[in-house]
Amino acid sequence: MQVDIEVLKEFECGLDPEHPEQSRMPAKVLGCGEISTSFEIDSPGTRGLACKRMPIFQTQEEIDQYTQLYNDYNTLLKKEVGIEVPDYDFAWFATADGKIIAFDLQRKLPAESIGNRAIHKLDTDSIKALVVCVLRELMKVWSFNQANPKRALGIDGQISNWSIDEFDEANPRGTPDTKLLYFDTSTPMMKKDGVEQLDSELFLRSAPSFLRWVIRWFFLESVMTRYYDARLVTIDLIANFYKEQRPELVPMLVDAANEFYHTEGRELGIAPLTEKEIRAYYSGDKTIWIVFLALRRFDRWLHKYLFRKPYVYILPGKIKR
Ligand SMILES: Nc1ncnc2c1ncn2[C@@H]1O[C@H](COP(=O)(O)OP(=O)(O)OP(=O)(O)O)[C@@H](O)[C@H]1O
Ligand SMILES: [Mg+2]
Repeated sequence: MQVDIEVLKEFECGLDPEHPEQSRMPAKVLGCGEISTSFEIDSPGTRGLACKRMPIFQTQEEIDQYTQLYNDYNTLLKKEVGIEVPDYDFAWFATADGKIIAFDLQRKLPAESIGNRAIHKLDTDSIKALVVCVLRELMKVWSFNQANPKRALGIDGQISNWSIDEFDEANPRGTPDTKLLYFDTSTPMMKKDGVEQLDSELFLRSAPSFLRWVIRWFFLESVMTRYYDARLVTIDLIANFYKEQRPELVPMLVDAANEFYHTEGRELGIAPLTEKEIRAYYSGDKTIWIVFLALRRFDRWLHKYLFRKPYVYILPGKIKR
């Protein structure tokens, strides 16, 4: 994958993290997740690429460790697990004022093909088929983990992390044969001999230092461990339909998942899901992310008005949950 690092440097130099769409270099925000923001920077060296900005590293060692993990995660998913990922690369540089800025790079996927967009175009049967396809992809991870106890992968199965291959916007359809790409590889969760390899502290850097212990204590553990648990990942996937403003689909999806784990996925021995527990999970999860975002906004405020230092992280704007 070819990327012009000078363009990335120039982009960073003119970036206003509080108002990324007003950056000096024209760029489109492709998506703003809870952790990273993806841009398409409008220049010949970056057009067609999704550049995910990760301003969380402080040392060369951290970058090296992350790069290795990011590459391993992508390679394992593609070559051993059998989940398709878009072409990818990684670039980083130090800025004139000593910050380290890294970008995960990926081929840009069509906006309308991304799950959380597609579910507003597809009919109910297609959405059911799409979610079953996701469960089938996730099964590959659980099978891999069972077969390789020394090296387990975690995965965030939410619908906003998948792209429908060759999605036809004029004739939107989901079928049992729908092919998916998984692109949320910027949080490469992997355990070696039971030990998490991804340094979760990196993701706390955008929160105020004197409050990190709260986050660590309250939810880091639960957030990081859920991605290795087939049942929790499934609950998370379905619960996310509340956030994506399709709550009426939840009962149908609960039935579809239960049917799946009763048939194709029965070897996992997953106890049937209920709508009630999905709702309860969602309200807990919603609180976690609202608190995390509020703390980060507070930190930005402190930087601006008290410390009078630049706040380098990009925070999501208003999120309808
Ligand atoms: N390769 C890509 N092509 C097009 N759009 C993308 C691409 N990668 C990310 N996006 C957009 O950005 C959004 C967020 O990206 P992603 O899921 O990788 O990060 P994230 O959600 O912040 O990560 P996390 O799930 O760890 O919080 C996606 O839902 C999608 O809309
Ligand atoms: Mg995501």
